[in-house]
Amino acid sequence: MQSIAFFNNKGGVGKTTLLCNVAAYLALERKKKVLVVDADPQCNATQLLLDDWDVYELYEDSKSFTVHSIIHPLSIGKGYADSIKPQKVLDYGVDLIPGDPRLALKEDLLSKDWQDAIGGEIRGLRTSFLFSELLERCGKYD
Ligand SMILES: Nc1ncnc2c1ncn2[C@@H]1O[C@H](COP(=O)(O)OP(=O)(O)O)[C@@H](O)[C@H]1O
Ligand SMILES: [Mg+2]
Repeated sequence: MQSIAFFNNKGGVGKTTLLCNVAAYLALERKKKVLVVDADPQCNATQLLLDDWDVYELYEDSKSFTVHSIIHPLSIGKGYADSIKPQKVLDYGVDLIPGDPRLALKEDLLSKDWQDAIGGEIRGLRTSFLFSELLERCGKYD
């Protein structure tokens, strides 16, 4: 499986737009199995891919499966999340792990555990490997 990340420190330069269009191109034109992971607490990719009502329902229910469902168990010392439940986005041909505004609350944890990981501390390593561990479990995607 290949993973592609879109990163630029500057806001408003087209990361989210590019991400969603590249994902849809790979899925619809190149027939690839694509998983979009929205790891931005602004959740603009989620808002672009889903329609307004689905976004409303998603965030109305605090138990919806989002990127928060993956990081929250780790942040309370319960390790990696058991199961991953992406949702299908038919119009774009992709699966999606929606973003979550609550991810903003985890940024301190991510940066602190990164420091601890450098010191070889187990919890820090676990946190820092969160997303690579997630990708390893997504072998059915291209
Ligand atoms: N290629 C483009 N040409 C013109 N406008 C664009 C282009 N790509 C993105 N935009 C617009 O620029 C704004 C910011 O894009 P966005 O993808 O949200 O940026 P980022 O994710 O980097 O913050 C949006 O209003 C978007 O519609
Ligand atoms: Mg964006």
